[in-house]
Amino acid sequence: MVITIIGAGYVGLTQATIFANAGFKVYALEVDQNRVDIIKSGRSFFYEANLDPLVENAIKTGMLIPTTSYEDALAESDVIFSCVGTPDNPDGSSNLTYVFDVVDKIINTIGESSKILVQKSTVPVGTGEKIIKLLTDSGSNVSYVSNPEFLREGSALIDSLWFDRIVVGSNDKTASDKVLDLYKLVTGQRGNIAARAGISTSGRDSKEGEYITTSVNSAELIKVTANAFLATKITFANSIAKLADATHADINEVMHAVGADPRIGRSFLNAGRGFGGGCFPKDVSGLISSGIEYGVEIDILHAVTQENESMPSYIVEKVIDHENGPLTGKNVTVLGLAYKAGTSDTRRSPSIKIANLLVEHAGAKVKVHDPVAMQDRQTLDALADDITVINDLTEAIQNADAVFIATDWPEFTSLSPSHYADLMSGKIFVDCMNSFSPDAIRAAGLTYVGVGR
Ligand SMILES: NC(=O)c1ccc[n+]([C@@H]2O[C@H](COP(=O)([O-])OP(=O)(O)OC[C@H]3O[C@@H](n4cnc5c(N)ncnc54)[C@H](O)[C@@H]3O)[C@@H](O)[C@H]2O)c1
Repeated sequence: MVITIIGAGYVGLTQATIFANAGFKVYALEVDQNRVDIIKSGRSFFYEANLDPLVENAIKTGMLIPTTSYEDALAESDVIFSCVGTPDNPDGSSNLTYVFDVVDKIINTIGESSKILVQKSTVPVGTGEKIIKLLTDSGSNVSYVSNPEFLREGSALIDSLWFDRIVVGSNDKTASDKVLDLYKLVTGQRGNIAARAGISTSGRDSKEGEYITTSVNSAELIKVTANAFLATKITFANSIAKLADATHADINEVMHAVGADPRIGRSFLNAGRGFGGGCFPKDVSGLISSGIEYGVEIDILHAVTQENESMPSYIVEKVIDHENGPLTGKNVTVLGLAYKAGTSDTRRSPSIKIANLLVEHAGAKVKVHDPVAMQDRQTLDALADDITVINDLTEAIQNADAVFIATDWPEFTSLSPSHYADLMSGKIFVDCMNSFSPDAIRAAGLTYVGVGR
């Protein structure tokens, strides 16, 4: 079985690398020549823990073939996974340009040969039906399977090898069974793949994920509903955090006890500076748009978007209130630019919004540092002009009047409060992700500002 993965980004490269390490010949078909060249050199163009050894091995063994050529890749392939981006349009709806471009290219490249097209990109409900119609009308011999992806950046390999569920939606049982068989073959190899990547299997080995077969529309709706629900949980915690601030309660104490109820669960109830990244914001707005398209108002999601967008300025205002005025001329260090720890991805990162607000709204002199997310052109372009990027963590903290822990990288959360206190010249410690103990920060002589604490 030969596989093509179209779009070698966070999702596509991870999946291509796993299939190649499981013994499949895999074409990574990518339009960006620079990305192709980097992958050819045996590494990833983004940071994801443990991925590089697998990319290196797959390139060395010749099982992973990065290419920009549709003809080369598709001629040989039986199964084609589409993993291209689905960003949002200015009105919040999903931009499906890349998705339909891929369908066009497949129709124009494969002639009458028989293939399975697997949709891994997150697409709005109803997209698969439109693609199936295009494929049928073109006379091509392509079966369509919706197979949404659930990996999280920062734990992409573990999530893929020890998945909670694989969802396949199709009206072609033979095609969806073939796709399920691919995942089952990978599961049989996951111990070897993990060992090659340097991932410990201990405590994980017995995990059996669920294989779920659905209609195409259900599969599409499952993916965006899962993300919108998680975004709603975070936002709910953030809303209650504001009330905790106003009443001197501690949101961590509150959510620890609330989440102890198994009907609720503790995960995704951490209050903080809000969600970002390439998925949650656009999946929430995409679901709102799908609702509108089919005459259904999903009001709760409007509130989620609005509340989430308020969090960076809520935190900056809280510090301004605390200081009884703007931070004009103060040296402020923002630690973390990635939208979450474990990735170099800064798409829609609330940490960047905080850094920019500190310059543009609070009048501070801002330095930023991130362990892996400072090289990317897009990241640098997203930062306000006057922000200084500092490569060394100690240098970034030194002489700061205020430090904002904007992304909870272990590099920052594992440092002791006294380490910060010794390096800083001021006392303001802003814990945007509620990662520290307020008492420990205060014991080091710093002023603690959290979210809902
Ligand atoms: N990143 C995540 O954590 C994650 C998790 C689950 C689902 N998803 C979904 O998976 C999809 C891909 O996300 P991503 O984060 O990997 O995006 P990405 O932007 O990192 O990768 C997409 C890649 O596709 C390439 N591409 C675009 N058009 C192409 C074409 N016609 N032919 C070949 N390559 C093309 C781009 O150059 C890019 O490298 C999205 O729909 C996203 O919502 C992402």
